[in-house]
Amino acid sequence: MRRKVTKAIFPVAGLGTRILPATKSVPKEIMTLVDRPLVQYAIDEARAAGIKEFIFVTSRGKSALEDYFDHSPVLEQELRKKGKTELLETLKSTDMESGAIAYIRQHKALGLGHAVWCARRLIANEPFAVMLPDDVIAAEKPCLQQMVEAYEESGGNMVAAMEVPPEKASSYGVLDVAEDHGSVVRVKGMVEKPKAEDAPSNLAVIGRYILEPTVLRNLNKLKQGSGGEIQLTDAIAEDITSDVPVYGYRFRGQRFDCGSKAGFLQATVAFGLSRDDLRDDLAGYLREVIQTDKAAQ
Ligand code: G1P
Repeated sequence: MRRKVTKAIFPVAGLGTRILPATKSVPKEIMTLVDRPLVQYAIDEARAAGIKEFIFVTSRGKSALEDYFDHSPVLEQELRKKGKTELLETLKSTDMESGAIAYIRQHKALGLGHAVWCARRLIANEPFAVMLPDDVIAAEKPCLQQMVEAYEESGGNMVAAMEVPPEKASSYGVLDVAEDHGSVVRVKGMVEKPKAEDAPSNLAVIGRYILEPTVLRNLNKLKQGSGGEIQLTDAIAEDITSDVPVYGYRFRGQRFDCGSKAGFLQATVAFGLSRDDLRDDLAGYLREVIQTDKAAQ
């Protein structure tokens, strides 16, 4: 029997410089997509995939994240007094069972691989998920759940993958494909942020991973890679040489890069349009804007 994936690491220590000045005092992960912070989407996706323990790798200035998942007795009491049961219900999604959530500080910004390595003692010797909350994925079946189902068949390491335009490959980890089976590809190499001309394919890694504990052992060596940082991509690729298979999983869904302004705006429109309570107003407004724009041309 394959071990169940019940732990997930959320690396949230980044400075969010692509969305400055907003991120000067608000952690990127707390920024609002429609009416929920980015991190709530990641937590909901993790829960749907069967995750029971949530490990946040944070840094200075991220205390808003801890408060978000804490009980808020004054607010709750006030809502109860006023009979606002619907709002109380909404707050439930932020509830965390005692002990289900842990925060670890990454003291130095040494890269994604280092952030994941910081959580090694809480993972010990079992498979685990890594989720990057600024990759928001809209999908009928949540992306991590799709991956857990595929992982139950395949085992090994699995990364979410998506085709990107070749000129964009240099912004991602890129897969060198050995065998393409459609939704699952077997990988023979991975390169972090290659130059466009050196990219082995245009199949890019997106921020969802299911990893074997061997990856943590590879990270123990703390070797610097692309950009002088300790890269998760390199530690996963190292497993290929020691015969732990690595798979890319082409998920079904639409990914938004909410670490960028344009991506955040697109996600806001897409998630707004997917909401029954907002669709008509927002769609009407967008039609108006497009018509005015056309008329002005
Ligand atoms: C990270 C990973 C990269 C991956 C990307 C997906 O890069 O290092 O391999 O393709 O997330 O969003 P970052 O965007 O944090 O620089």
